[in-house]
Amino acid sequence: MIGIFDSGIGGLSVLKEVRKTLPEADLVYYADNANCPYGPKSREFIRSRAETITEELVGKYGADIIVIACNTATAAAVSFLRKKYSEPETEEQRLHILELTGGRHDHIRFIGMEPAVKPASRQTCTGVIGVLATAGTLHGQKYTDIRNIYSQDVRIMEHIGENFVEMVEKGQTSGPEAEAVVSRSLRPMLEAGADTIVLGCTHYPFLAETILKVARELGHPVTVINPAPAVARHLIDVMAAEGIPTSDHPQKAGKTLLLSSGEDTQLRKAYRTLL
Ligand code: DGL
Repeated sequence: MIGIFDSGIGGLSVLKEVRKTLPEADLVYYADNANCPYGPKSREFIRSRAETITEELVGKYGADIIVIACNTATAAAVSFLRKKYSEPETEEQRLHILELTGGRHDHIRFIGMEPAVKPASRQTCTGVIGVLATAGTLHGQKYTDIRNIYSQDVRIMEHIGENFVEMVEKGQTSGPEAEAVVSRSLRPMLEAGADTIVLGCTHYPFLAETILKVARELGHPVTVINPAPAVARHLIDVMAAEGIPTSDHPQKAGKTLLLSSGEDTQLRKAYRTLL
C-alpha cells in the first residue's frame, strides 16, 4: 500500500503517474484540504500536519511508503519526517514504528518533491528558465541550494503562482479568469526570455494547458516541466530497494482510497476527470 498526501487536489497529478506506473498497487490518498493552502503557512504547522497524516496513513490504512506529493510540505517537513521515521535514533522511536506498522517495518521511507530545475536548465534554449512555486517552497533551504547550483549555468526567474492553488481547488483551471491569474505570475518570466517553465507545485499541472495558451498568446511559447513522472519512477526504485511489493493484486487493478480533512466533492470530481 502506497500512501500519498498533499494539501489538496494537487497531489492527484502525482497519483496519476503513480497509477500509470504501478497499475496493480493499492493507493491511499490524503488531501489536507481543510488546511489548504500550505504555501503561506508556517513550517511548524506543515510539519505537524505531515506527522499526523503520516501516522494515519501508516497506522490506520497500512501504508508501507509515503509519497509527499507536495513541494511545500517536502520543503517544510521531509527532513523532520525522515529523522523520525526513516532513521529512528532511539529505541522508543523504532518501537513506535513497529507498533504503527503492525510489526512489518522498523522504518518508513518518504519520497519528496522539489522543483525540476535540473532538467529545465538542460532543456532551455534561451538560457532563461522560470520556476513557479509557492512561497513555502521558494523560501525553503532545499530550493535555495538547488538555485545556487544551477544559477551558475542559467538565469532563473521565480514567481509565486498567486491564487493558482485556490483556483485549482475550485476546479477553475481554464477560461478568461484563470488566464488572467496565470498571466500575472507568468508574464515577468516570459518577458525576461524564459522558454522553459518548471511547475514547482503539484497543483500547477492542472493549469498546464492554460499556462501554454497564455504564453503562446503573449508571443513567447514555452515548454512546461512536471516532475510527477520522474517521482513515480523514483518510487519504484525505492520500493525495489526496500523490498516493498509493487503489486497488491497480481493481474488485477489496484484500489485507490481517497481521504480528506475537509469537503471532498472537488477532490472526487478531479479524481474522476483525471483518471
Ligand atoms: N500542492 C502543493 C505544492 O506542491 C501545495 C500548495 C499549497 O497548498 O499551497 O506545493
